[in-house]
Amino acid sequence: MNLLTIEGLFVHFGGVVAVDNVSFDVRQGEILGLIGPNGSGKTTVLNLLSGFLAPHAGKVRMRDEDVTAMSPDRLAQRGVLRMFQMTRVFTRMSAFDNLLTAGMARGLSEAESNRRAQALVEELTLGPVQYLDAGQLSGGQRKLLEFGMCFIEPPLVAMLDEPFAAVHPVMREVMAQFIRARHAQGFTFLLVSHDMPIVVDLCQRAVCMNAGRVIAAGDIHSVLKNHDVIEAYLGNGDAQSGPDDLPSLEVH
Ligand SMILES: Nc1ncnc2c1ncn2[C@@H]1O[C@H](COP(=O)(O)OP(=O)(O)O)[C@@H](O)[C@H]1O
Ligand SMILES: [Mg+2]
Repeated sequence: MNLLTIEGLFVHFGGVVAVDNVSFDVRQGEILGLIGPNGSGKTTVLNLLSGFLAPHAGKVRMRDEDVTAMSPDRLAQRGVLRMFQMTRVFTRMSAFDNLLTAGMARGLSEAESNRRAQALVEELTLGPVQYLDAGQLSGGQRKLLEFGMCFIEPPLVAMLDEPFAAVHPVMREVMAQFIRARHAQGFTFLLVSHDMPIVVDLCQRAVCMNAGRVIAAGDIHSVLKNHDVIEAYLGNGDAQSGPDDLPSLEVH
């Protein structure tokens, strides 16, 4: 069953067409990868789907409801959350209190927020730093804290934009495990990531964009083997998606 149906999204910034007639579905309960070289339009798609940007053309439906250009707040009420959108880490408040506050801001009781915050601290391996001010956490620990704050009341569909970038591999695995556990409970993810091994590991399906367009969509392995996808990565000389990424594009 489709949770989101995206039809013909189009947006330009002046003369730059960032998203060009993009259509794809996000199925209930899947982890869908959104991949493609830098500048291909992935972040802009997330902005469109989470209400931070209105398309010049096209439609987004959530189940049977038209949610095109709906505000981030109204989308969040429906369970569509772009990670980090709700998150304001208070740097002079402890990590634990940040979690507690996030829970209460989402309408949970203090007792329930407390219970969930304790479980999240454990799961996210933040125990040793839970009473430090959030401002003292490392970048990776802070990202873990942001995961906890977003998921203290799990969204139906979470959109993550490069969550693993510049995060220590140990914490990356904590994040991946966190996503797997929520997926096992039936939650849906749209994951933008350059980290191909993690995408292959987590995602059943993927959509690949290049220059604003969808160039391949479907089963992750078939997408990565797709000629146009390989060409898009090969043809792009930037540091993040250049030749260094190619070995990880190989499918076993
Ligand atoms: N606010 C903006 N103003 C002007 N151009 C933008 C803006 N946001 C994105 N772009 C352009 O749109 C294209 C797609 O960008 P983006 O969605 O960030 O790609 P990705 O996330 O795949 O790297 C790029 O050419 C980028 O320069
Ligand atoms: Mg981006």
